[in-house]
Amino acid sequence: MPAIVLLGAQWGDEGKGKATDLLGSSVDFVVKYNGGNNAGHTIVVDGEKYALHLLPSGILTPGVVPVIGNGVVIDLAVLFTELDDLDARGVDTSRLVVSSAAHLIGPHHRVIDKVTERFLGNAKLGTTGRGIGPTYADKMSRVGIRVQDLFDEKILRAKVEIALEQKNHLLVKVYNRRAITVDEVAEEFLSYADRLRPMVADTPLLLGTALDEGRTVLLEGGQATLLDVDHGTYPFVTSSNPTAGGACTGSGIPPTRVDKVVAVVKAYATRVGSGPFPTELLDADGDRLRADGAEFGTTTGRPRRCGWYDAVVARYAARVNGVTDFVLTKLDVLTGWERIPVCVAYEVDGVRQDEMPMTQTDFHHAKPVYELLDGWSEDITGARTLADLPKAAQAYVQALEEMSGAPISAIGVGPGRDATIELRSLLA
Ligand code: GDP
Ligand code: IMO
Ligand code: MG
Repeated sequence: MPAIVLLGAQWGDEGKGKATDLLGSSVDFVVKYNGGNNAGHTIVVDGEKYALHLLPSGILTPGVVPVIGNGVVIDLAVLFTELDDLDARGVDTSRLVVSSAAHLIGPHHRVIDKVTERFLGNAKLGTTGRGIGPTYADKMSRVGIRVQDLFDEKILRAKVEIALEQKNHLLVKVYNRRAITVDEVAEEFLSYADRLRPMVADTPLLLGTALDEGRTVLLEGGQATLLDVDHGTYPFVTSSNPTAGGACTGSGIPPTRVDKVVAVVKAYATRVGSGPFPTELLDADGDRLRADGAEFGTTTGRPRRCGWYDAVVARYAARVNGVTDFVLTKLDVLTGWERIPVCVAYEVDGVRQDEMPMTQTDFHHAKPVYELLDGWSEDITGARTLADLPKAAQAYVQALEEMSGAPISAIGVGPGRDATIELRSLLA
């Protein structure tokens, strides 16, 4: 089995970390290919809870080589704090490999992320404030600092100077903030250089060789399809490509080597931050989903916006990613509803639409067309086969599969690694 992509089908927090961890023991490499410490993955192993942000979720599996790919943006302070925390809990992190071409998040990026959001006022995106957008903007503007720049101090200082020049004018003259010096940025970066050096590699070469040798590589996406800068609800998106194409550019693995695209999708929907969300519930039903699903952000602690399952979004994700399998998560959270509405299409200005609207204006106007499915009241957290589920829960899964554009191959019924119904192998 060559490369497998695992990504989010909705607006993030679908349970990608748990799904990656579940596959960890069957793969050789787990590569994070996009985003940075804006991600937050909660993984529960034997009752122990781990919160990962920058590290690939495969780091928890003994024997797996975790890789931070070239498409990731790295905050070095966060990287080493996360590693130290895991080391203190007895997790072996010594195999971590970091791409020499990944970009670095600096203090200038973090401050610009925050002041830009403040400046936007009501139009703010609700970013995680981690400097993600400004770092990707510098990458595209060709003034970014990469991991490899740490190993040539002269070049590093020259690049930091270029990167800061315009930003300091902006910070001082527009935002009324103090200028950031070349020394403070260079020193922050250089303080980690010695510790980072042994982890750094040409990761596209490493992964290409591993695939040639028949190893299995899992490409783990942060964020999700509707947060993709190209295919998401722009401008209310992150600044990277979480979709399947991004897995190739962000890792250096070509599309011809990708065999499977596994999309993780929640049995309902959530979103953190601003932007359109047609099935959002702003009433007591939304509060109930948030409470039952513990829908509070792993990264910022913000309450997540909650709503019903949106099959238009799922079909869209199936199409733009070429999804071969869905992992349906958090089915247990829906226990106790008499009827469960599922969005099967939109009505946009009085006209029914079965696909994602072409324009953001139409998406903002989209009203869900609901189908009501029967609920169930039995506790399903102990179910390990489809037959263990109440008939109505089985019918709910089947209905979602029929309307979502790809087979559902696994179902999550609790946060723990074992609380999963595997219908077919995700790796075969
Ligand atoms: P990620 O960012 O996609 O990795 O997802 P998060 O970790 O941010 O959010 C998913 C949350 O749901 C985590 O707290 C998981 O422990 C939890 N979780 C994952 N799968 C299930 C499931 O099937 N049932 C329940 N109840 N919780 C789950
Ligand atoms: P995981 O990997 C949910 C959202 C932010 C904001 C927008 C842009 O845990 O699913 P950014 O800081 O990336 O510039 O913020 O994207 N966002 C996420 N929402 N899950 C995530 O990651 C997210 N990462 C970013 O809330 O709306
Ligand atoms: Mg998350």
